[in-house]
Amino acid sequence: MRDGMVARSARWAAVAGTELIPLNVAEMDFPTDPVVVERIQRLLLGPLTYSPPYTDNDIAGAVVDHYRREHGLAVPRRNVQLAAGIVAQSYHVMRELLAPSDAGLYFGPAYHSIPDSITAAGARAVAVHLDPWTTPAWDVAELERRIVPGTRLIHLSHPHNPTGHQFGLDELRAIADVAERHDLLIVSNEVYARLTLQGRHLPMAAIAPRRTLTITGATKSHNLAGIGGSVMFSHDSELMARLRSGTRFSLAAGRSIQQAALAAAYEQDSPWLRATRDRLRANQHRIAAELRRCRAVDVHVPVATYFLWLRVGELPEQADAAQVLRDGCGLVGAPGAEFGASRDFVRLAVAMTPEDVDMVVARIRAWSRYEVSVDRAAPVLPARLGARREPFPARCTGKDVT
Ligand SMILES: Cc1ncc(COP(=O)(O)O)c(C=O)c1O
Repeated sequence: MRDGMVARSARWAAVAGTELIPLNVAEMDFPTDPVVVERIQRLLLGPLTYSPPYTDNDIAGAVVDHYRREHGLAVPRRNVQLAAGIVAQSYHVMRELLAPSDAGLYFGPAYHSIPDSITAAGARAVAVHLDPWTTPAWDVAELERRIVPGTRLIHLSHPHNPTGHQFGLDELRAIADVAERHDLLIVSNEVYARLTLQGRHLPMAAIAPRRTLTITGATKSHNLAGIGGSVMFSHDSELMARLRSGTRFSLAAGRSIQQAALAAAYEQDSPWLRATRDRLRANQHRIAAELRRCRAVDVHVPVATYFLWLRVGELPEQADAAQVLRDGCGLVGAPGAEFGASRDFVRLAVAMTPEDVDMVVARIRAWSRYEVSVDRAAPVLPARLGARREPFPARCTGKDVT
């Protein structure tokens, strides 16, 4: 399995020949939905032509039906736009929506493409602090305070990457209310929506249909990073027409293979998807339970996404949380700094096989025993780590690494 992953996955390739386990990228270590595979295989048997418009050929219809079925939301079929990928679509859209003197709000820490898509348009990206350990997780007064002349939009990541925070009804209503009073557009990236592991996802568009531009897809829910494809829609037909014509030649349209994958993914919540959610939830809880033995670690287990968001206390002066985890138990996480957070934070993506979960759990257990055993003598983490003979050995075991 591992060897196969090195050729397929940049994150596995980066640790090839070592005993490190990469938990730093949002992808799954298992194949996608057989429903999607079968649909793509069928397409590959015939000529790979330009497909008919997706608004007419039932592909946009699959998305529309999904929103009606799952959320009681009537999305106008002609307002659905398919493109080659979510990040690219966001960048192109921001360029259409924002001028250099403008500003866009977002909830930080954040997946880099959320603020980057705003700054790439020449505008100012302004963070509103989100802390998943507090209730509420963010402050509506702060959101309002951050609005300046020239603020045009709020760019949501909902559910939120990296914390996995699922914005609830009250939060979405508060955002809609602020947007209404300040005449802001809400651009809602909902790529993790179908990885809601407890409760139900509430689309922003269900709360503020005229003010929301939704960008989503099956990249995360169906592990389609290798295929791509994205979906965008709004109830505002004028806005969609403007974005469609503005991005017509610069943004690659969804190709037939992406359309086939999206249609298969949206036609149903398949047995695969339901089982995958169970598996991800189980992974999160097993690993979190083990991490909770480490007294210096606070774990946030979100109700959506397959992330764990960790805060590590009492860090050595020069180290960040990701380094402590890597040195302590050979787990590679995504450092908080990648999301604009401080060095205390690290994100783990835990969509891995049962064998790797076993290994992760064993590594953390050994580390936490160590922590506990030195705890009495040296209650602070730097001392514990310093007392360790050496960091977790990133030993070379493969012949391809010299
Ligand atoms: C919030 C968010 N949007 C988009 C993407 C990537 O989507 P795509 O590969 O379709 O561009 C990611 C990947 O991590 C993400 O976290």
